[in-house]
Amino acid sequence: GGPRPLAGKKAIVTSGPTHEPIDPVRYIANRSSGRQGHAIAAALAKLGADVTLVSGPVEIPDPAGVTTVHVERAEEMLAAVVAALPADIAVMVAAVADWRVAAAGTQKIKKKPGEAPPPLLLAENPDILKTIGHHADRPKLVVGFAAETQDVEANAREKLTRKGADLIVANDVSPATGIMGGSRNSVRIVSRDGVDAWPDLAKAEVATRLAALIAERLAALP
Ligand code: C5P
Repeated sequence: GGPRPLAGKKAIVTSGPTHEPIDPVRYIANRSSGRQGHAIAAALAKLGADVTLVSGPVEIPDPAGVTTVHVERAEEMLAAVVAALPADIAVMVAAVADWRVAAAGTQKIKKKPGEAPPPLLLAENPDILKTIGHHADRPKLVVGFAAETQDVEANAREKLTRKGADLIVANDVSPATGIMGGSRNSVRIVSRDGVDAWPDLAKAEVATRLAALIAERLAALP
């Protein structure tokens, strides 16, 4: 039950971390759980949207009522997001690795007695939000996240412009907040209209409110 203001609308959501291989058995990762992104995908579906969730490796189940595409690396995530276009809404929640290993080995790197540790040369990953925010087939409403440990609002405002987003959901991920990997979140919504600070909420409630805000904003667009 409930109103379905997003019926007939298509949404793409990214969630979770990416794993960037070093060799076939090792990878570089981060502490994202995918909880917030998965909850947003579910909340958009609940409002009637046709949702494609592009998820990095997570330990939580695929949300019901959503088409989930599983990827590992940032480059695969970008390809899956572009393949899901066109869409009305994009919500990029994934904690995409900024760098990948420049030449990931196809064989396990062997430790050889007496040899120095191998240097890990990194290459920059594509910025998925920025690519979608400036895409020829740009969704009408593009939402990004900004996980920061300092200058949260200033960083969010900078991302809004540089990445071509309509909304940035900013949160403080300093370890003391317990937000990363935790079940609660305390966010500020940054748009060209200003900043709206939400109270401390369960991630599911942040998702419900964000989905409602997205529906409202989309309805207000020409
Ligand atoms: O620049 P930063 O990583 O802090 O930006 C965060 C926002 O950009 C998030 O919405 C995240 O999903 C998105 N992002 C992305 N691709 C990247 C890096 C970040 O989509 N390579």
